[in-house]
Amino acid sequence: MTGGAGFIGANFVHQTLATRPDAEITVLDALTYAGNEESLASVRDRIEFVHGNIADAPLVDDLVQKSDLVVHFAAESHNDNSLSDPWPFVQTNVIGTYTLLQAVREHDVRYHHISTDEVYGDLELDDPERFTEATPYNPSSPYSSTKASSDLIVRAWTRSFGVKATISNCSNNYGPYQHVEKFIPRQITNVLDGVRPKLYGAGLNVRDWIHVDDHNSAVWAIIDGGELGQTYLIGADGEANNRTVVESVLEICGKGKTDFDFVTDRPGHDMRYAIDSSRLRTELGWEPRYRDFRAGLEATVQWYRDNEAWWRPQKDATEQAYAKAGERTL
Ligand code: NAD
Ligand code: DAU
Repeated sequence: MTGGAGFIGANFVHQTLATRPDAEITVLDALTYAGNEESLASVRDRIEFVHGNIADAPLVDDLVQKSDLVVHFAAESHNDNSLSDPWPFVQTNVIGTYTLLQAVREHDVRYHHISTDEVYGDLELDDPERFTEATPYNPSSPYSSTKASSDLIVRAWTRSFGVKATISNCSNNYGPYQHVEKFIPRQITNVLDGVRPKLYGAGLNVRDWIHVDDHNSAVWAIIDGGELGQTYLIGADGEANNRTVVESVLEICGKGKTDFDFVTDRPGHDMRYAIDSSRLRTELGWEPRYRDFRAGLEATVQWYRDNEAWWRPQKDATEQAYAKAGERTL
């Protein structure tokens, strides 16, 4: 697998070792600013960890030929960073995915591609429709455009070269080991530091939250039972607007519900994502385990309280990057 030192990849390693103890896992990860070996410390002797880049073709070729399944999580994943500097997104998300596809094609290895609902663009707040597998691609940001590009590479390699691939497009994840640049951990760690949470614009943008363990159980359902060449949307009916999420974090932490600031909005900020995961549920029988977002959020707050040593080294640099990008209180 790729990207196992990142948020979702590290949780995938932990879940896989817990549910499939005989699995032999090789993690290929470049340990960018977003990768953290500490996330794998407790299972380090049960996996092979390779520090390397997914765009390194000879390395990838060597690892792929020794594997019977490649699950591709590695990416540049943060929209705000893609607005400051899009190049690493093209390099990793497009060239890196191309490199993996060439290797799985060469060695005829089963491939699962992790992608995002952002490839579909955004919805109006009152749109009765949600994204489905048939929704046309319409990405808004450099991040989502490079993820859309990578999905299209997978589809083309599947059709033209017979690569044995499936794709999943998931909504916003939350849970342990998420970098503090992302919305929920940023606000939790701000509150723990006595700093007011930051809401972009009017705070009305809606995201469709899913616990990372539910994302990963769905990935395994697709690997085990999904039809080759097909795409599956992963979501847990978790729509909430950003203001509601910040209010919940403040309440959980014992602060006043209005103790937050509105800050400069993200350029091109997608308004709403919403996933219809009927196909995954009806064809593969998958169901989410975390149905109570508030309970999942409480557990996540507790994880950040208990694991300050994990997130503290990232915090100052992250906040400095937001300040440097021009974020200011409205
Ligand atoms: P993350 O930023 O936390 O982790 C990315 C990992 O990839 C890091 O460990 C990093 O070191 C590694 N990496 C980056 N560039 C690399 C390269 N060139 N070679 C090797 N390793 C490299 O990301 P995440 O939030 O865990 O997202 C994982 C995947 O899931 C991504 O493909 C993302 O697009 C997708 N996704 C994320 C979400 C979400 O809410 N976070 C939702 C849907 C889909
Ligand atoms: O939908 C799936 C996507 O979800 C993934 O593909 C991405 O990798 C992942 O980063 C996430 O993208 P978002 O841009 O939706 O996530 P982010 O955590 O950056 O922001 C969530 C919402 O919160 C979004 O509307 C922007 C807003 N926001 C974010 C930050 C960091 C704030 O209001 N304040 C903040 O400080």
